[in-house]
Amino acid sequence: MINDLWYKNAIIYCLAVGTYMDADGDGVGDFKGLLRRLDYLQGLGISAIWLMPFQVSPHRDDGYDIADYYSVDPRYGTLGDFVEFAHGAKQRGIRVIIDLVVNHTSDAHPWFKQARRDPKSKYRDWYVWSKSKPRGANRGVVFPGVQKSTWSYDREAKAWYFHRFYDFQPDLNTSNPVVQAEILKIMGFWIQQGVSGFRMDAVPFVIATKGANVAKPREQYDMLRRFREFLQWREGEAIVLAEANVLPQTDLEYFGDDGERLHMMFNFQVNQHLFYALATADTRPLAKAMAKTKPRPATAQWGIFLRNHDELDLGRLTPAQRQKVFAAFAPDPGMQLYDRGIRRRLAPMLAGDRRRIEMAYSLMFTLPGTPVLRYGDEIGMGDDLELPERNAARTPMQWSAEPHGGFTKSARPHLPVISGGPYGFEHVNAATQRRFADSLLNWTERIIRMRKEVPEVGWGDFAVIPTREPAVLVMRYAWRNNWVLFVHNLDAEPHEITFSVGLDRESAKSGDELINLLSEDHSRAGKDGKHSLVIEGYGYRWYRVGGLDYLLRRSDIDQE
Ligand code: GLC
Repeated sequence: MINDLWYKNAIIYCLAVGTYMDADGDGVGDFKGLLRRLDYLQGLGISAIWLMPFQVSPHRDDGYDIADYYSVDPRYGTLGDFVEFAHGAKQRGIRVIIDLVVNHTSDAHPWFKQARRDPKSKYRDWYVWSKSKPRGANRGVVFPGVQKSTWSYDREAKAWYFHRFYDFQPDLNTSNPVVQAEILKIMGFWIQQGVSGFRMDAVPFVIATKGANVAKPREQYDMLRRFREFLQWREGEAIVLAEANVLPQTDLEYFGDDGERLHMMFNFQVNQHLFYALATADTRPLAKAMAKTKPRPATAQWGIFLRNHDELDLGRLTPAQRQKVFAAFAPDPGMQLYDRGIRRRLAPMLAGDRRRIEMAYSLMFTLPGTPVLRYGDEIGMGDDLELPERNAARTPMQWSAEPHGGFTKSARPHLPVISGGPYGFEHVNAATQRRFADSLLNWTERIIRMRKEVPEVGWGDFAVIPTREPAVLVMRYAWRNNWVLFVHNLDAEPHEITFSVGLDRESAKSGDELINLLSEDHSRAGKDGKHSLVIEGYGYRWYRVGGLDYLLRRSDIDQE
């Protein structure tokens, strides 16, 4: 039954085709290049790839401005190349999920072109228009400082159109049943090409009512159920992973009370408080964020991440909390973005401190949910703050010490490969790290292997175990009579902690023994049943509770 609900216990790796591997030497990564790197990804141990948008696009928002949903942008290859890649992934047991960007199209999409040209066109109603300038035109921009409004005048249409994001991304009128039918068709098309689901872009905006007279948008949650039903009928294993940075009280609206809506959501609440914890060594707000996002239907799952392709959005922290994270990780205003975020990669934020980086990833791999890793983080890539906006953290993958990091044979990669300095490809690259047993790459491979051996994290129930030390987070997971326990010290200083595993009376004896999964350093409870340990600065421990008994219990599971 190992294939059931694969996303509950998977490792997702996110990448952009254009910056991964260039096989044809034109300076842009392509599907042929990615196909050649599948053995590397299989070796790393990931279970699914999340591909950023690769369809035909003018690329004014890194492909999040799509001009043809049923295509592959020629710079990345052909639809045939995509299928070769999808097949190669499948052969290696790696699933593929792709971005589904249907809140808006590019203004270069033929639908929009026809809609603006002809008021009688059937596509007119696919977008959101207003004869006069709507009152709230300057409100609700997503990219403050760069984007000026959410409505723009179109001379050809002689009307204003709505765009939640940039003006070249007109919003689709997603309330229109014909548009909804088209969205299903897009999903059906890619399912047929072999993908296992979608990372759905900007979901709160997709389901919001839109229009000049809409003062307060209303969420049309039922749409989510229809997406899911369609998917499930077409392909049982296909999922939707939602990008929805919403408050915990609305999470269940997205999952559905009985899990009848979306399968997965990124846990932005935990992400932001995790960075607060990393910055201040105070894990209490993180524990609160975990508690607030604990309720979810049994079949639903959180996506846990550290950094992604966007800015690290800190908009849900209080201003004082946010300032502390800025002070720790982005003191220079040029490192900050959109008044709320940080446009850096993880390794430089943590000053390249290997212990701290390991601890941060160890946390990502053990927080409740399914970890989502970003390409290049497995080798500790840096950022290029010379590049505009979010591009700083979107530079090409560093494969080797060859020119342009082995990413391309072209003299002009479309985004520069980071060179020189502590994060340059000369030092930070996959080929070099493969050779060193202790490299971050090999550490990541080992931790992924271990994470797969503790399905309790993906499936089980967690509890945060109290200690008196706010810098140390102790989490325990229980699933089918198995327990694992994780200890993380977010502080640079060592701390001594005392805690009890806290199992119920019947199982209490098992809690006396903690078997360390990563070293020989096991822990035995004292006479009072409590464990005492000194955990070094930025230390982390993975324990299985209950010693060898576990093997017996495990065999019960395997037979189920
Ligand atoms: C999402 C994407 C972001 C993109 C935006 C508009 O937030 O993550 O990269 O710019 O949607 O599609």
